[in-house]
Amino acid sequence: MTIDPAFRIGPADRRLFGSFVEHMGRCVYGGVFEPDHPAADPLGLRTDVLDLTRELGVSVVRYPGGNFVSGYRWEDGVGPVADRPRRLDLAWKTIETNRFGLDEFMAWARLADVEPMMAVNLGTRGVQEACDLLEYTNHPGGTQLSDLRRRHGAEQPYGVRLWCLGNELDGPWQVGHKTADEYGRLAAETARAMKLIDPSISLVACGSSNRDMPTFAAWEATVLEHTYQHVDYISLHNYYDPSDGDRASLLASAVGMDAFINEVIATADHVGAKLRQPRKLKLSFDEWNVWYQARLQADLDRRGWVQAPALIEDDFTSVDAVVVGDLLITLLRHADRVGVACQAQLANVIAPIRTRNGGPAWRQSIFHPFALTARYARGTVLRTEPTGPTYDTAKYGPAPVLATVAVLDEESDELTVFAVNRGDTDLALDLDLRALTGRAGSGATTAGPTGLGHLVLDAGADPDATNTAEHPDRVVPRELETPTVDGGRCAVRLPAVSWNVLRFA
Ligand code: AHR
Repeated sequence: MTIDPAFRIGPADRRLFGSFVEHMGRCVYGGVFEPDHPAADPLGLRTDVLDLTRELGVSVVRYPGGNFVSGYRWEDGVGPVADRPRRLDLAWKTIETNRFGLDEFMAWARLADVEPMMAVNLGTRGVQEACDLLEYTNHPGGTQLSDLRRRHGAEQPYGVRLWCLGNELDGPWQVGHKTADEYGRLAAETARAMKLIDPSISLVACGSSNRDMPTFAAWEATVLEHTYQHVDYISLHNYYDPSDGDRASLLASAVGMDAFINEVIATADHVGAKLRQPRKLKLSFDEWNVWYQARLQADLDRRGWVQAPALIEDDFTSVDAVVVGDLLITLLRHADRVGVACQAQLANVIAPIRTRNGGPAWRQSIFHPFALTARYARGTVLRTEPTGPTYDTAKYGPAPVLATVAVLDEESDELTVFAVNRGDTDLALDLDLRALTGRAGSGATTAGPTGLGHLVLDAGADPDATNTAEHPDRVVPRELETPTVDGGRCAVRLPAVSWNVLRFA
């Protein structure tokens, strides 16, 4: 594989390292918020979860849903707690107490050092309620709703820049499900009105709920015909399901993600061409992860109307962590068009952070590739086109065994190569780094780069290993021998089924 600083894809946008907090299961209640917990701050926010969120390196957090937002009245969650109504949440068949709402989320986001990304309800509500919410959050003052926010203790506007126009409205399960034309019209009118209130915001129109939706691509085309001029992003959602035990296909999930991204780009560009729009639309992959989806129905069937039940608290394996690392590589490889990405979700619900009510918080296996990618993928993403073997998968046909991306940090002069070996035997990777020798402005001297370290998270020996409250460090990255560069060339060994971080300076 050759790495050349001339082969630039684009900047590694921090917004690619987003996450998602939905009022679902124990993501909010018992996750980020638990007033009775020994580690809770005076607002009821769990400081142990805040610490892990910062360590994870999350940049932007989408809130409050998800399917939940399609029946949500944001006003229920602001103002004196004693006055807040208990409601039926139809999305997850639970009781919502509204103890945690918009102002609590904004306080949490500030402490977590993340950018809030809000979603408006376009399932059961419309233009007016979206405008009301935007007035409450972003208008400085002197109007009913901005002054209400000030009375609630937030003198300054929150200045939320990123807004989702609803959630998964193509899905028949969605409360307020719509046809593409119905949603496209509503999203366009909501977008126009919201930008009248605050022209500095960026808006995300809903794309398909996943690549297998029968309406996929036609939905995007119709929605964008209505909204192209008014929005900045089209969303993508996709989860990769290990439930069928087909490990070869699971390990090639990134091939599916890559194809999905290319298909949405093609569809958006087709509409842009048709509408004579020179501006290229960006993509917001605002729900992605590994998810054992078969378990959700069992969770929902088991109970009546309850508060904050445990929902889809998947225990992720070491293989799942390799897949998550690979999905992050794919997002980076599309850094020129994917501008936002949110792993779903942050705490407990298919999440990198797990907690017990009243008990500890711990890092799941998938925490590690996310945290290390967020830490080291800084600077300019470089295109890599490795040659190597393929293997057969039932879902994606022949898939490359090796997946890679490189990121060059021009400030620190460090190069990071992320590499996944999807195969079940070790793989020899030969790197040609000669183009990095003697770069202008490089502290790296004419001798060229030298190795800084090789971190690996490998699943070959124990593919089903998981982290638990009792054994939180079963799946953690480990250091391998520092790579040596000789004459601009470097040979490294990638263990079977592994995600790797190779660093050079
Ligand atoms: O993240 C869990 C759910 O998955 C979200 O609420 C929904 O948008 C998606 O289908």
